[in-house]
Amino acid sequence: MSGKADKGLSDRTCRVLDYGERQEEKGRQQFARDVLLGFFRSPKSIPSRHFYDEEGNRLFQKIMDLPEYYLTDCELEILETHRERITGHLGGQAFNLVELGAGDGKKTRVLLSHFCERDLDFRYVPIDICKPALLQLIDICGRDLPGVPIDGLVSEYFDGLAWLSGLNDRRNVVLFLGSNIGNFNASEARVFLRSLWSSLNDGDLVLIGFDLKKDIELLMRAYNDPQGVTAQFNLNLLRRINRELGGDFQVESFEHYSTYDVLSGAMESYLVSRARQSVFIESLRMRFAFEAWEPIHTEVSHKYLAGEISSMADETGFEVVDELSDSRGWFLDSLWRVRKPLTRPARA
Ligand code: AVI
Repeated sequence: MSGKADKGLSDRTCRVLDYGERQEEKGRQQFARDVLLGFFRSPKSIPSRHFYDEEGNRLFQKIMDLPEYYLTDCELEILETHRERITGHLGGQAFNLVELGAGDGKKTRVLLSHFCERDLDFRYVPIDICKPALLQLIDICGRDLPGVPIDGLVSEYFDGLAWLSGLNDRRNVVLFLGSNIGNFNASEARVFLRSLWSSLNDGDLVLIGFDLKKDIELLMRAYNDPQGVTAQFNLNLLRRINRELGGDFQVESFEHYSTYDVLSGAMESYLVSRARQSVFIESLRMRFAFEAWEPIHTEVSHKYLAGEISSMADETGFEVVDELSDSRGWFLDSLWRVRKPLTRPARA
């Protein structure tokens, strides 16, 4: 390890990168810009990353506990069954276990406690833009796994990775679990993966959770649960506009609608206006008109074939090292190694 290894890291910290005191204000401005841009589009849209304010995070935790939302159980089963196999890929050297969008860390704790039992030399670095969620995660891990050094970063994913690369020379093992990749469309996913590749070093590892294509009935139930938690999660976007941007949405006059698009291979979620109405948003100083049954597109949740996953790895500079699936074959955690050739690719 070099002289800069572990400089500035303490045993359990939560750092806010770049944003300082103005983080909340910056977030609100970005939200306002995205709503303005999205409401000028046809169909109207709101980017799904804005689901995750404190209330959205709370609702998403509830979704993950729903029996219909099979994704969490599948991935938990994968990590429990294959933790030793994953450990085998890490080699003996010290590493940073970096998690992008960690949530409550329930699944990751399976790996953390296994790595502790195996006495591996690692530091857990969860990166999330939501500070309350990150503080809660650090708290839970501190209680359950007192031996694990944790450095939580409140930041955008790539700011966090850039900060980390200047800090120590350990190998990075990046977790991007829970089918978060599925919330990008095909080209966004490739841009994300290529940016991830750029932020990492040759030989670093990435474990990515992909939800696989399956019986459409199962998908429909997972995104239209009978308790209506997913509906509330979706409608929270309008409540968030009311809370943060001074909107006057009558939330009950919109409904959640989620359906599977066979061509794109994704669940597509919408909020549909049940009546002709208009909404004023104070911070944009604008009124927006909605026709009866007009949709606002809010989310894409992509489902994959195993072949699509390996092609994506190849196209973006990774090599597939292992593929871990659950007993029903519904979900896949794919382990990739960063490939950085020393020579420039030849001209075609
Ligand atoms: C976070 N993400 C992977 C979830 C998904 O399945 O697309 C968000 C979600 N949306 C509705 N239910 C869950």
